[in-house]
Amino acid sequence: MQENNQLKNLRLNYEQDQLLESSINKDPFVQFKLWFDLVLKSDVIEPNAMTIATATKNGIPSARMVLLKEFDETGFTFFTNYESRKGKELLENPFASLLFWWREFERQVRIEGKIVQISRKESEEYFNLRPLKSRYGALASRQSEVVKSREVLEKRFLDLEKQFGENPPTPENWGGYKLIPNKFEFWQGRRDRLHDRIVYEKDKDDWKIYRLQP
Ligand SMILES: Cc1cc2nc3c(=O)[nH]c(=O)nc-3n(C[C@H](O)[C@H](O)[C@H](O)COP(=O)(O)O)c2cc1C
Repeated sequence: MQENNQLKNLRLNYEQDQLLESSINKDPFVQFKLWFDLVLKSDVIEPNAMTIATATKNGIPSARMVLLKEFDETGFTFFTNYESRKGKELLENPFASLLFWWREFERQVRIEGKIVQISRKESEEYFNLRPLKSRYGALASRQSEVVKSREVLEKRFLDLEKQFGENPPTPENWGGYKLIPNKFEFWQGRRDRLHDRIVYEKDKDDWKIYRLQP
């Protein structure tokens, strides 16, 4: 077990930047792009890694990392297996929450909304952009199902490679999900735990903007 005081004494003071009502963009998608472009230009590893939290219809939550692959004013897209645990949860409860933590910038972004599947055509287009071996990885994996051993998976991978060669089909149960936001929160770490938190909440066709206490 971790020495208790070691954790209790672990803390950083955040003092890199500030987030003020006077300097934010009124459009949360533009504000996201401003922050995200900075992270993309930096040497942050996997800047597009985000947590997605889903929940069952009874409200039991689960969270995992995925990679953001596209975003615009219609939403935030990632790719996965539709029959995975997250896929099953989204089928019975389409509400989800995304989370980015860019520690080098002392910034967190939370995005909440409803998830839809993107079109089969868009999923196929992206699938075919992936490296060949990753396509086989997706094809071989019944994501989130129990498997007897690693060898079973590796054999399935090799068998599929033999069967399809250079042109593996997009798995029927694989594709993109897009989260359509109704709420964003931009968090900038500040000194002495007086962090900045600015929320954008969808209000008909507009975004209501307010500050939360840290
Ligand atoms: C940095 C990182 C990125 C990941 N990206 C994806 C992704 O884009 N799609 C995906 O299905 N799983 C991705 N995973 C694996 C998921 O975290 C998770 O293990 C998997 O999707 C199964 O989750 P589930 O059983 O809750 O459905 C990623 C994991 C990490 C650590």
